[in-house]
Amino acid sequence: MARTAEAEDPAGPGPGTAAGAEAAAEAEADTFIELDGVEKVFDVRRKTGFLKRERRQVRAVDGLSFTVSRGEMVGYIGPNGAGKSTTIKMLTGILTPSGGRLRVAGIDPSRERIRLAHRIGVVFGQRTTLWWDLPLIDSYRLMHRMYRIPDARYRENLDRCVELLQLQELLDVPVRQLSLGQRMRGDIAAALLHDPEVLYLDEPTIGLDVVSKAKVRGFLRDLSAERGTTVLLTTHDLQDIEQLCSRVMVIDHGRLMYDGRLEGLHEAGESERTLVVDLERELPPIEAPEPARVVRVEGPRQWLAFPASESAAGLVAGIAARYPLVDLSVREPDIESVIAKMYAERAGA
Ligand SMILES: Nc1ncnc2c1ncn2[C@@H]1O[C@H](COP(=O)(O)OP(=O)(O)O)[C@@H](O)[C@H]1O
Ligand SMILES: [Mg+2]
Repeated sequence: MARTAEAEDPAGPGPGTAAGAEAAAEAEADTFIELDGVEKVFDVRRKTGFLKRERRQVRAVDGLSFTVSRGEMVGYIGPNGAGKSTTIKMLTGILTPSGGRLRVAGIDPSRERIRLAHRIGVVFGQRTTLWWDLPLIDSYRLMHRMYRIPDARYRENLDRCVELLQLQELLDVPVRQLSLGQRMRGDIAAALLHDPEVLYLDEPTIGLDVVSKAKVRGFLRDLSAERGTTVLLTTHDLQDIEQLCSRVMVIDHGRLMYDGRLEGLHEAGESERTLVVDLERELPPIEAPEPARVVRVEGPRQWLAFPASESAAGLVAGIAARYPLVDLSVREPDIESVIAKMYAERAGA
């Protein structure tokens, strides 16, 4: 690779120069995102009465350290107010850290935000980067110019996004008339027109229906597989993580609580899934094989809890063989309950 050769070439930029350090950092173990003791403190002034104001400091991010390698797809989860969005804003350069060291592609985001902008894409689920009153295609044309994307590359990326995100019918529709799911697909395309090496997604599936969620997930999976795009995904939906991410980081109060595989998180939190069964008629609680157990009965409907690390298939088969089943569904644990259990475990240990 040219970049590695350059970093090792004694005639090239020396380790003391910014360019040399950057090249070396990028070559090293393919680390793409790097946080070392990063902090973000907000000064908040609150009105507490007539002419009375209280000053308070909020440590939104409190000594965060982790690295993400090129091509990784990482889930970034935690309760509301945990510091997820603040982290993403620092990674884009929108916010400057109060302390610690942060690099994306060897670049300090807050110092070189514009240069970094050409290499990253970001989608905030709760906010659109599209022009509200303009047809979708006009937003893309504006981005084409803003990012100075070469014409051929713009065409190619647009065509690909339009096809895979099924945007053809929507291109001439003003953004304000799009449904939430359509707008989200439009936003994801907008973030990818300039071929970013990393994509930050902050709650991209929030409020989406099942079909839209499936479309977004399918697209992200292809993007990662075909382009090797690095993805950092914040979500409240554990299924997003389950289907997309081999690694998950949990943060709370601005600190990293867990970094590893999702299965490991389920074990750490002993989290449970719920099997909801509808029987033909009201019956006493089902005698389910251990460790599954009935946790609630309401008329002909019963809820059974079982460990999230186990498959539902055996349990379903066992019940179906002995009870008159009409319908069933499996509910995933929500992130809050997984994390809550993780804490309970630690406190008890
Ligand atoms: N601009 C801001 N000014 C003051 N406090 C903020 C600001 N942005 C975020 N916070 C606070 O920082 C904490 C983390 O917020 P955020 O990063 O948005 O959490 P998350 O995205 O995980 O829900 C919260 O307590 C939030 O109220
Ligand atoms: Mg947030």
